[in-house]
Amino acid sequence: MHRVYGVAIKKGGQGKSTTVTTLARLCALYGARVLVVDLAQPGTASTGLRDSWPNVPHGTLSELLDPFCLLQPQDLPHPDDVLAALDALHLPVPLNAKPSWGGGLMALLPYDEGLGFVARRLQSPYVIDGILRSMDSAFDIMLIDFPAEESILLDNALLATDRVIIPFMADASSLEGMDATLRLLRRGREGNARATLGGIILTHCEPRNKRAGDIVNTLIHSGEVEGENLKERLFPFAIRASDFFDHAFRYGEPVWERTQDQRVWAGYVLLAEWLLADAGLERLIPNRRFAALLDDDTRIMDTAAVAAGTGTGEARLHDFRLVHAPQAP
Ligand SMILES: Nc1ncnc2c1ncn2[C@@H]1O[C@H](COP(=O)(O)OP(=O)(O)OP(=O)(O)O)[C@@H](O)[C@H]1O
Ligand SMILES: [Mg+2]
Repeated sequence: MHRVYGVAIKKGGQGKSTTVTTLARLCALYGARVLVVDLAQPGTASTGLRDSWPNVPHGTLSELLDPFCLLQPQDLPHPDDVLAALDALHLPVPLNAKPSWGGGLMALLPYDEGLGFVARRLQSPYVIDGILRSMDSAFDIMLIDFPAEESILLDNALLATDRVIIPFMADASSLEGMDATLRLLRRGREGNARATLGGIILTHCEPRNKRAGDIVNTLIHSGEVEGENLKERLFPFAIRASDFFDHAFRYGEPVWERTQDQRVWAGYVLLAEWLLADAGLERLIPNRRFAALLDDDTRIMDTAAVAAGTGTGEARLHDFRLVHAPQAP
C-alpha cells in the first residue's frame, strides 16, 4: 500500500518543488519506489529531475485526465479505464535509476502546459485520487507538488493526499500563506479529505538569523491554528539556505552533485527518514548510503536552537539524533 504526500503552501517560492525532487531522489536512494506527481505550474519539479529523464516517447498528464472530464462530481474513475489510459500514454514516465540504488525507483507524472485547460473542465475532485489508487501496487510513496491556486486541480490534489508537508521560509510575508494552507486543510477535513498535516519544514534557514527565530517563535506560541498545534507540527530539523539548490535546479541534478558540503542537504535526509518511517518503510532506513550517509559531525539546522536565538541555530547530527530519535513530529 502506498502513502501519498502532498507538498503544499499557498505562497510562492517557499521550496515546494525543491522539497519534492530532493525527497523523491533520497527515498529512491534508500530503496523506495517513488512516484512524483507534478501538478504545479510551470513544472519545476519535472524540470528539476531532468538528469534522470529517459529518452522515451510518452503522452501527457492532460491527455490522461481529458477523458475523465466527463465524470460527475461524485464519481471516481474506474481502475480499468485508468490502467488502459496509462498504458496507451506510456505513463508514468520511468526515470533512469542509478545502478547503485539497490531496488529503488522513481517515476513521474510530469506537468504539461495543457493541464490548466483540462483542469477547467474537470468536474470530479476524485480523478487524481482514482489514478493514484490504480497504481497502488507499483509504488511505496507518492509525492505531489501541489498547485498554488484555487482550482478543481487543487481539490483533486487534496483528496488524493494522506499527509501534507508545508515548506515554510520563516519570514513575515510567508505567514499568510501558512494560514491559508491550514485553512485549506481544515476545509478538506470538514469535507471528504483524509489529508492530515504531516509537518511544517523550515526552508531557506540561515545560521544566526534573528528574524527567522522570531517568526519560528510566533509559530511555536500561536497555539492551535485551524485545529493544528503548530508547535507539535514543526519538524525539529530545518533545511539550510544554500545557493546550491538553485544551481542544482538549473542543471536538473541532485544538489549533492553540485557540492560535497553535506550540511546543505542534511535536513532533507532527516525529512526523508521521517517520511520513510511514516510510510511504514522503517526497514529501508538502515540502507543509508551515498548522499543519505551523513557524517556524525555534520552540522544541521536545529529548529529549537533557531527559535531560541542562541548560538548559530545548529547542532551536531550525532547529538541531534540522540535527542530526537526516532524522528518527530
Ligand atoms: N533551502 C534553500 N536555500 C536556498 N534556496 C533555495 C532553497 N530551496 C529552494 N531554493 C530556491 O528557491 C527558489 C524557490 O524554490 P522552489 O522552486 O523549490 O519553491 P516553490 O515553492 O516550488 O516555488 P513556486 O511557488 O514557484 O512553485 C528556487 O530558486 C530554488 O532553487
Ligand atoms: Mg514550485
